[in-house]
Amino acid sequence: MNQAVSTQAPLAPQTVHLKDYQPPAFLINQVELNFKLEPSATLVTSLLHLQRNPAHPDGRAPLVLDGQQLKLLSVEVDGQPLAASDYQVTENHLTLPQPPAEFVLQTQVEIDPANNTALEGLYLSSGNFCTQCEAEGFRRITYYLDRPDVLARFTTRIEADKEAFPVLLSNGNPTEKGELDKGKHYVIWEDPFPKPCYLFALVGGDLHPVKDSYTTSSGRKVALEIWVEKENLHKCDHALESLKKAMRWDEDTYGREYDLDIYMIVAVNDFNMGAMENKGLNIFNSACVLADPKSETDMAFHRVESVVAHEYFHNWSGNRVTCRDWFQLSLKEGFTVFRDQQFSADQHSPAVERIQHVALLRTAQFAEDASPTAHPVRPDSYIEINNFYTLTVYEKGSEVVRMLSELVGWDTFRKGSDLYFERFDGQAVTVEDFVNCMAEVSGLNLDQFLIWYSQAGTPQVKAEGRYDAEQKTFTLTLKQETPPTPGQKDKQPLLIPIKMGLVSRTGHPLPLEIDGEFHGTETVLQLNKAEQSFTFHHLESEPLPSLLRGFSAPVKLSYAYSKEDLAFLLQHDPDGFNRWDAGQQLALTTLQELISAQQQGQDLELDPLLINTWKQLLEGQPEDPLMLAELLQLPSEAYIAEQYECVDIDAIHIARDYARKTLATALYPEFLRLYHLYTSDQPWSAEAQQLAARRLKNTCLSFLVVTDAAEALQLAEQQFQQADNMTDQQAALTCLAHAENNQPGDAALQAFARQWARDPLVMDTWFSIQVTRPHPDALDRVKALLEHPAFSMKNPNKVRAVLGAFAGQNRHNFHRRDGAGYQLLANAVIELNKTNPQIASRLVLPLTRFQKLDDFRKGKMKEALERIQQEKLSPDLYEVIQKALV
Ligand code: PHE
Ligand code: ZN
Repeated sequence: MNQAVSTQAPLAPQTVHLKDYQPPAFLINQVELNFKLEPSATLVTSLLHLQRNPAHPDGRAPLVLDGQQLKLLSVEVDGQPLAASDYQVTENHLTLPQPPAEFVLQTQVEIDPANNTALEGLYLSSGNFCTQCEAEGFRRITYYLDRPDVLARFTTRIEADKEAFPVLLSNGNPTEKGELDKGKHYVIWEDPFPKPCYLFALVGGDLHPVKDSYTTSSGRKVALEIWVEKENLHKCDHALESLKKAMRWDEDTYGREYDLDIYMIVAVNDFNMGAMENKGLNIFNSACVLADPKSETDMAFHRVESVVAHEYFHNWSGNRVTCRDWFQLSLKEGFTVFRDQQFSADQHSPAVERIQHVALLRTAQFAEDASPTAHPVRPDSYIEINNFYTLTVYEKGSEVVRMLSELVGWDTFRKGSDLYFERFDGQAVTVEDFVNCMAEVSGLNLDQFLIWYSQAGTPQVKAEGRYDAEQKTFTLTLKQETPPTPGQKDKQPLLIPIKMGLVSRTGHPLPLEIDGEFHGTETVLQLNKAEQSFTFHHLESEPLPSLLRGFSAPVKLSYAYSKEDLAFLLQHDPDGFNRWDAGQQLALTTLQELISAQQQGQDLELDPLLINTWKQLLEGQPEDPLMLAELLQLPSEAYIAEQYECVDIDAIHIARDYARKTLATALYPEFLRLYHLYTSDQPWSAEAQQLAARRLKNTCLSFLVVTDAAEALQLAEQQFQQADNMTDQQAALTCLAHAENNQPGDAALQAFARQWARDPLVMDTWFSIQVTRPHPDALDRVKALLEHPAFSMKNPNKVRAVLGAFAGQNRHNFHRRDGAGYQLLANAVIELNKTNPQIASRLVLPLTRFQKLDDFRKGKMKEALERIQQEKLSPDLYEVIQKALV
């Protein structure tokens, strides 16, 4: 037996380039895995049926298998043990220099799941075995061609102690099980669909199922199972209902049916991401699957529904048709996010869904575009692929697919999608393959459109309108420009669809006539040059343009509206999204005036136009309470910061805080009236009307409480104590805990912790509420919470709840001038670099966003980064820090 464990020093991290893609030298037809599960010494035996790939240019290329942190015990070719001279083992590879053209390779390795804190490969979470293989985790389980374009059929035998691990799951269908000596048992699973190894999954533990079934439209019965820890069995109904809805929806909307006899979801507490679409065996972060109204908010319910749907939709967009290489990640992610957004829009209010996605995109994704880690939807190089599971790949990727669907129209898009799934079923393909299907079915030339995938940065569109009273024409001039991003200085003009209409000054949509052609009252202009003009005819008076309706392209569009114009559009724009956006722009402009006043040392005075506009919104019986709640969100500090080349953290915070308080004080009676109007003593229900009522009521409460009125605090305390659901309880707690006077808040926090100490997901919110407290004591509280017994650096949800929430949602405290916020984050990153590089590399990102800050803060941030750089860095952090400090 060969005990080779490499002691070679790791190489400097290597950059992988898209342009270097080569097909694999070998194909794997069949994989037989055998696991003997032991927490600190699991044995993995693998049989690979290998064959030279005729598509590879070099017919004599060696076989190079990936492998990391594996203890190699034996290697056999066609049943014959190999001599040590017949293969090489290094830190990351097992190489057979001269293998036969077709053969069976058997390897046996030992791995240590109990010490796997990176949560990639096979690891233990709350005592249960689970796996995470995307993107390159499978190589931590066994030697393999760990790349998405190698598709194989998997058979998995799992053996374990029966008492500790009564449930043993893997992909596909169970085909055999039995008892063994010494209290052991085994199960064999067979997955009939060839798949890349990133979709492999295994679970072993003391888990309990909630079971149901689903009959597909062609009449096949599918068993549905959600596996959780016993105490969470009551939290599975919502995920199950969501799954069935998603299955039906994909049949109705995309004609896609499920293809195995069983679909399983497993909830685990320690997970780096939200969830994973492993074939037939999804593994979920428990935060994205468990939901009970007593302990989870409406927002959590929504998240569960959309993540369950997202992972389910991957069964076609990702699993049946997968990615050729990891540069194509958005092929599955952008398309699947688009599909889950369509699904959510069909379940709820389409306008509000759109608003929330856009709000995320144009703060966080736009900020990514403007940062040192900016990259195209399809990156062209990476050091660590884990760093590319980003808002750009996911959210902007979805926007690109959305634009495509708008350009070709839904029916044609659906035809293109059918063609794509049919033509590439069982294959690993590229972004071009997808776009070409759309070009083929639509007859459109989409060459220019493809630039959206390769060009990084947020395009800026400057729009100008000129009304000619004599000619009765309105000319709209659009100019596009994409600012340079790292490594991409010169940008090309994109094809930008601008959905728009014209509104008369009396509030009516106007017919659009361009060059003698009639377009109804709404059209999509195709901006495809650096500058273009469009002239609208037969307009009796000067119209107001309503541009980029529904956010038809992921761009920054500017138009010189007056505040009165914006208030008018807020009332009259026929497009729900644009009404909201007009309100946002009005608030933004008003806030920017306050920011300037603050910077010039003047007294702050809120423009009464904003107060009066809001007053009108709050009066009477709201038509759409959910939408009203959106209209009452002031632009976030992050979004305000997006507008500036040079960001004044303090002025932004002071101005926004002042505006909130002023609105709350001026409109106190209105907020109070609506609060009572939407407070009911009916028991909780998931129904849309109730959900909207909760959201509006809690929005009103948050304004009432910022006035510090004793009555408002009392209302919050009362709601906190009487709530029968987490949405109301948490909203009230947040109001109390964020009030300047910390007495009632601290009392409520203590009571809450007593009530929920045993529920880790609720404790995550308890942590987050405290670290987002907007007052100067926030940082000290974060420090104290890091020492709290319920906190653990080993649990990604806790790290996100405390450190992620502080750095991401408590901007002005994170950016304290003394740099204490930066130091705190740097310390955590240094610790996590040793245990969980993927989480470390995400957590560090706020420290890389210093480009638009003042020199003093810039200096403090770079100091923090340089301190991290002194460490022995994982490739993940190495890549991010090196990009930030160039
Ligand atoms: N592929 C998963 C999803 O988007 C995300 C994921 C990536 C999970 C990498 C774990 C690791 O649905
Ligand atoms: Zn996904």
